[in-house]
This record gives sequence, C-alpha cells and structure tokens, in this order.
Amino acid sequence: MSSSADVSTSGSTDRRHIATEAARRRTFAIISHPDAGKSTMTEALALHARKISEAGAIHGKAGRKSTVSDWMEMEKARGISVSSTALQFTYVPDGADPDTGGAVINLVDTPGHADFSEDTYRVLTAVDCAVMLIDAAKGLEPQTLKLFQVCRHRGIPVITIINKWDRPGRTPLELIDEIIDRIGLTPTPLYLPVGIAGDFRGLLDRRSGEYIHFTRTAGGATIAPEEYVDPESAAEREGDDWVAAVEESALLSEMGQDHDQEMFLAGQTSPMIFASAMLNFGVRQLLDALVALAPAPKGREGIDGTMREVTDPFSAVVFKVQAGMDSAHRDRLAFMRIVSGEFERGMVVNHAQTGKPFATKYAQTVFGRDRQTVDTAYPGDVVGLVNAMALAPGDTLYIDPKVQYPPIPSFAPEHFAVLRAESAGKYKQFRKAMDQLDSEGVVQVLRNDIRGDASPVLAAVGPMQFEVVTARMKTEFGVDTSIQSLPYSLARRTDADSAEELARQRGVEVFTRTDGAILALVSDKWRLQYIEKESPDLTLEPLVAAA
Ligand code: G4P
Repeated sequence: MSSSADVSTSGSTDRRHIATEAARRRTFAIISHPDAGKSTMTEALALHARKISEAGAIHGKAGRKSTVSDWMEMEKARGISVSSTALQFTYVPDGADPDTGGAVINLVDTPGHADFSEDTYRVLTAVDCAVMLIDAAKGLEPQTLKLFQVCRHRGIPVITIINKWDRPGRTPLELIDEIIDRIGLTPTPLYLPVGIAGDFRGLLDRRSGEYIHFTRTAGGATIAPEEYVDPESAAEREGDDWVAAVEESALLSEMGQDHDQEMFLAGQTSPMIFASAMLNFGVRQLLDALVALAPAPKGREGIDGTMREVTDPFSAVVFKVQAGMDSAHRDRLAFMRIVSGEFERGMVVNHAQTGKPFATKYAQTVFGRDRQTVDTAYPGDVVGLVNAMALAPGDTLYIDPKVQYPPIPSFAPEHFAVLRAESAGKYKQFRKAMDQLDSEGVVQVLRNDIRGDASPVLAAVGPMQFEVVTARMKTEFGVDTSIQSLPYSLARRTDADSAEELARQRGVEVFTRTDGAILALVSDKWRLQYIEKESPDLTLEPLVAAA
C-alpha cells in the first residue's frame, strides 16, 4: 500500500537522482575550421576516457580519415556509446572518487566541412559549452568565426584550444591578440606551452605554477605520459623555454588575463589551452577544464515564461533530423537533447507541436544494431529517436505538465537557388515534398508572387543542403528536379514597409519565408552598403550568424 507520503518521498529521491546525474554531465561541441584537428581531438578525448574507465590494451588510430567508421570500431573496442551525432563517455579526473562514476561527457558532433549546413549551427543549440579548436599556424579561420558568432549569440561559453602546437606556428601572444582583435573574446590561458610551436615540451600550469612535461608516444596512439615538475627543476630542465613561458604568464596576469569563472560563463573570456591532438598533449587538461569549468545542464524557459528545471518531469528539444538517404528505408532519425527529467526507453511522451503522443519504444534500435541501446538518459544527453516522422528541429517533447521551448532560430543563409520539377506532371508531389523538406528544416524555403509556387527559392547556409534536397526529392518522392543558383550572397530581414522600396532596387529581390519573415536577398555586400547609405530608413537587419 502506498500513502501519499511514500509518493512524495520517492519523488524527492528521483529528483535527487536526476539532479546528481545532471550535475555530472558536460555537453559540448567542438567548433573549428576543416583540418584544424576536430576528428583527431575527438579520438584523443575518447582515448582518455578509455584509459580512465577501462583497463587493457589501447588500440592504434589506423584509418583516421573516416571518423564515422573509426567511431564504430572504437565503440566495439571500447564499449562506449557512439553515434555520428553524439559521443558519450565517462571521465574521472585525477583525485576524484571513481565510485561516483566520474563525469559524463557528451560530445555533440558538428557536421564537417563537406556538409556544412544549417545542421551545423543547430547542433550548437543542444550544447552548454563549445570548444573552439584553432590551428596554431592558421589562427582564426572563416568557419570557426561563423560558428563562434552563433555561440556568442546564444550565450554559450567557449573554451579555446590552440591545436597542432607540435608543428611550427605563431607565438601564443600573437594568437591571443588575434582572438581579442577579431572577435572581442579575451583568452585567459589556463596553461601556456613550454617550447615554441614545433617544439612542444610541456605546459606551464598557470594556476599551480607547475610544469607538466609530456613524453611522446609512437604516433600519438596512446596517452602521452605526464610528469609533474616543480618550477625550480623546470627552470633547470627547460632553461629559456621555461623562463619565456613564466614571463608570458606574468604578462598575461598583469593584463588581467587570468581565468575568471563569471566572465567565462558570460562569454567575455575564454580559458585557453595549448595542445597537440595528434600527440595527445593537453587533452587531459581539456577534459579537466570541461569538468571543472563548463556549465552542467540547466533548466530552460518555455515560451509561456515558465521555467522547467532539470529535475522537473521529462522534456527534450529536437535539434536535428536526419532522413536515411537509403531509399529502401525511409527511416528518419530525430535527435533530441534532454532538458529535464529522466528518459526511459519505451516511455510515451507528448509532442508539443502536434499535441500527439510519441512512443519511444523502439527508439534506439538503429543505434542498437551493433551498439548499446540507451535505456535511460538524463538532462544534457542526446538520444536518437527512430521513425520520428512528425518531428522537426526545434520541436519539444515532454511528459506532463506541458512545456514548449522557443523555436530554434533559422540562420543566415548565404546560398540561394531556384528549384523546379523537371516534369510539370509531378507538380503535386513536388509541392508535397517541398512542404515536407521545409518542415524538417532541410533548407529554408522562400517564395514571392513573381516567381510563383512552382519555382520556390531555396536558401541554405551551405550548398550541400541543395544536394540533399534534390537527392531526397528523387529517392523519397520520385520527383526529378533541377536547381539553378541565384546571384545573391546575403539575406537581410526587412518588413512590409521597406519591402516595396527594396524590391525596386537593382540586385535585390524580396521574399517571404515559410515562417512569415520577410527577407531581402542582396547580390553582394557592396550593393548592401550602397543601399544602406542611400536609403538609411529601410529596414535591413542581419540574421543570426551573419558572416
Ligand atoms: P578535422 O576533423 O578538423 O577536419 O581535422 P582532422 O582531425 O582530420 O585533422 C586534419 C589533419 O591535421 C590530419 O592530417 C591530422 O592528422 C592533422 N592533425 C590533427 N591534429 C594535429 C596535431 O595536433 N598535430 C599535427 N601535427 N597534426 C594534427 P592529415 O595529413 O590530413 O591526415 P592523416 O594522414 O594524419 O590522417
């Protein structure tokens, strides 16, 4: 027999359990330009997790080229839960009690260069922290900048890694200055490298003053042994390189560039670590920084203004939908980030957008084929739902009481093209397919009266999104389409008052997006500057993540 007192006791135990699970989670993404070393760093992080959570032989890093298959191999070898979207592992920092299970790290993958798309941005709505990975020789690169702007806009704190310190590159101060000057973020190095780029000996721990000396291992396939050395012995051992690091550290302190947790969480400063993902130098330091400094999952506010705390009943946000390109299986995976409560596979949740129930019984079978099925998950975790036909990015799933989170913003497109069905007879399917792909958020769909419904304009942040549209039109809906790119490179949000005047301008076309936003497409930034100068009263607002 259960009394109401029993119920409330078990409720508070559940809440405590969920609070503990949420508090030990860190959910982050790596933002970087292609080739900066994201895949290598991902593997290096998992290697550390392996070391800490299991004993035994560590496998080499053969075939680094194909990360997804590497991950599957890694998963088999190491028993960690992997999908192409999120990598989860546990990490017990030195000195922490292993009985607590350590920290649970969720690394959410940002799709790479070839398929840079709106998905890349959307992933950032699912994380609590970002690791900005920078090539020591190249400094800030365009894709990193774009992704950083999204982090800034969303208030996501950023940890900076200067990677490839084992190769010749710039000096620490040059790199720091570049970040301050170009993006107004102040790096606060936690560690400084001992040895110039290309001669990476170890790290000066700026907080303890200690020297961490690394030893190279063959091909960086195993964790680099670390030796802690006191400052005096470090000076004897490394001579001028040690002195240089100590002086740089003092200079940074003088300029106020020491870590400050509040400023970091406010997105004003960025803890910085010098590393070599390839040699596994600085990787443990990154994990430690994530555990010590990155925020744990927090509750979120629904659109009605009510706060959903992590310990409240289950709720989650869908941030990515992936349709199988395999025409035999029209499967559709929706990835959700859990915001509150405990997820148990099999539970029936509500879909806020349609009001319909959604069964999660077979949610993980696609992951589960070769892999471990996720039976329970907590705030911060990413779970893939199979056959999620009705779900679109930004949708909310919940257990009563109802909550609906704000929609994911659409990001500034930079590529525009007209899509047409090859055969007029397929118009009906074409429309249906267009609506479907639009609702999934595969591309943004723009329309105006002049072009009409038969030739919508697609807007994307990466051209790969167009290929996805034409491929899916053919395989899933049986419609051959042709795509013709348009000579616009910028989109600005405008309003009905300005629309008419803008439509008369050369190099400008005005559209309405499916969500009702009125967008002006402009040929290039010089044209835009001209219009802004000549007609300062017109509304022309940048969209999120404008380049
Ligand atoms: P990405 O996912 O960001 O695109 O980068 P990825 O990890 O694939 O790394 C790009 C290249 O940079 C790879 O070389 C990789 O080995 C190298 N790299 C990554 N981290 C480091 C580092 O810390 N130090 C050095 N020296 N190199 C690094 P590749 O020649 O393209 O491939 P591979 O032949 O090494 O597999």
